[in-house]
Amino acid sequence: MQNFTDIKKVETTEIEEILKLANDFEQNKAQSSCAGKHIALFFMEPSTRTRFSFEMAANKLNLHKYQFSSSTLAKGESLKDAIENLYQLGISCVVLRHQQAGIFDSLINEINCPMHFINAGDGNHTHPTQAMLDLYTMNKILGSVKGKKISIIGDIKHSRVAHANVTLLKKFGADIWICAPDYFKDEIKDVTITRNLKDALKDASVAMTLRVQKERLEDRIPIFDYIHDYGITMKKLQEYAPKDVILMHPGPVNRDVEIASDVLDSQYGQTILDQAHNGVFVRMAIIDTLLR
Ligand code: CP
Repeated sequence: MQNFTDIKKVETTEIEEILKLANDFEQNKAQSSCAGKHIALFFMEPSTRTRFSFEMAANKLNLHKYQFSSSTLAKGESLKDAIENLYQLGISCVVLRHQQAGIFDSLINEINCPMHFINAGDGNHTHPTQAMLDLYTMNKILGSVKGKKISIIGDIKHSRVAHANVTLLKKFGADIWICAPDYFKDEIKDVTITRNLKDALKDASVAMTLRVQKERLEDRIPIFDYIHDYGITMKKLQEYAPKDVILMHPGPVNRDVEIASDVLDSQYGQTILDQAHNGVFVRMAIIDTLLR
């Protein structure tokens, strides 16, 4: 595997191998097979979880890691030229978060060196390592997602996490539901679509809520109506969802928008922290698979 930029380009068997390796890393049953190599992290959009998770993964794999600063391209150099120079310096992998949806296809096409790329989120297109850690988290609790009702709730339209998860969960036979108001809906095939949160929560194994992506909104949205209709409260969970529903969110959470504070601070919020914890091992496995 040369790159990890889109779930669509990864075989199901490769995904299974990565998830197994992540579990081995978590259980201290696997060791780094890429120690001493050099990896660069380039985040052109804000990030807390993904950036620190990749840093932690690189440290645990005994890699040398380098942060691009925002000044890297300030002199007008193209990303392609900067990356080709970094390759000559000895860097063999770039983890990139970029605001441009679909940047990797053009970048990989243009570049004249065998640099490995990992997509840390490109615009509203996809966030494949997030989907992998989400699946890893679900598998740990449920055993498998096959046939399980997984409801993805909220700002689907602007969410790279939703797009990546739908692609990945389809590969593993989940019963995917999308729940959003019209201003957040998106064209997604082979899933059940509803505007009604009650229907989405009924019999759901997982309720995956998404951040309202204020920075990507073209128009104002009726935020108080959104909170009323789609915000997860203790009352809605208790009335509509199974007792053992798993509440997930990729983070960062807008408290009292997607999820009420008392829910987030209760036992329901623990899985969201577990997602962050699991991300380190999943990203270790992805890096190790590319660089070994
Ligand atoms: N889930 C996620 O991508 O979070 P960050 O933006 O903090 O990296």
